Amino acid sequence: MKTRILEILRQTKDWASGETLCREMGVSRTAVWKHIRTLREEGYHIEARSNLGYRLLQAPDIPLPGEIAAGLLTAVIGRQIEYLPELPSTNDTAQKLAREGCPEGTVVVTECQTGGKGRMGRPWFSPRGKGLWFTIVLRPPVNPAETPQVTMVAAVAVAEAVRAHTGVESGIKWPNDILVQERKLCGILVELNAEMDRVNFMVAGMGLNVNVPRSEFPPEIRDTATSLQAESGRHIPRVPLLRALLKSFEDWYRLWLDEGFAPILSRWRELCVTLDCPVTVHTIRESYTGHAINVDETGALLVKTEDGSIERLLAGEVTLRKR
Ligand code: BTN
Repeated sequence: MKTRILEILRQTKDWASGETLCREMGVSRTAVWKHIRTLREEGYHIEARSNLGYRLLQAPDIPLPGEIAAGLLTAVIGRQIEYLPELPSTNDTAQKLAREGCPEGTVVVTECQTGGKGRMGRPWFSPRGKGLWFTIVLRPPVNPAETPQVTMVAAVAVAEAVRAHTGVESGIKWPNDILVQERKLCGILVELNAEMDRVNFMVAGMGLNVNVPRSEFPPEIRDTATSLQAESGRHIPRVPLLRALLKSFEDWYRLWLDEGFAPILSRWRELCVTLDCPVTVHTIRESYTGHAINVDETGALLVKTEDGSIERLLAGEVTLRKR
């Protein structure tokens, strides 16, 4: 009912009379008024005049399903959206929905995560209303061995959408951190549910710092994290940005399914800031230093170590060393 009122207000662009709303919805004026009141509580600025009716002045910049859907240009990604004002982790909720059979492209989004998860078991800082914390459910018809490529699909999609939508130039640190001048703007956590030879589902979670002032990052990441607001000097509306991210993800994901990893890898290499750099590598087994020289056709990082041998890194953490 609320959604329909919003649709009418959006379509009318000007005043929609109380009578029109009552007729369209088949309810009383009191019922219409109650819905308008709820919408106002959700952050919609709706003007009411006794002789004219209602007019939508401003929608809230909150990733509510109706807001995201208005103007979303995707066919699959984000066609179903689950929004909650607060969640432990959008990745965990997405996994639960995926196990229950939700369709590919379902997006879980929240204003605030109380247990946001990063890579390597780290926490992910997800303050209320200041970022985009969301997860996409995927069911790619591929071999489980190919699934690490999805993290690179996501990294390219985020870097491209951020650049096109905000003008902020970001780069990718292997495998999928989005950086602006060595500070982390966005993290991506892809989790897999598979059997030996088939993927049941994957969830691709993205945490993008949008309007987090530098001073609000916790002290332990203040020197290494950044946000779009900190980089551009302006407040960035989140809903249009989320739409652009979903569209970019859909385009790059489609390209990967249709044409394979080569076009993704080629763009990923152009955006990568790790190649040709001195790096320190930390894996579960060991740590070593060397030079990142390339990424092979599977997405593994090739590091030339100090004794001249080439290490092929499939999983781990890379830090850039000063030259
Ligand atoms: C990283 O460590 O770089 C990955 C961070 C991923 C954070 C996002 S926020 C949305 C989604 N839900 C989570 O719990 N984590 C991911």
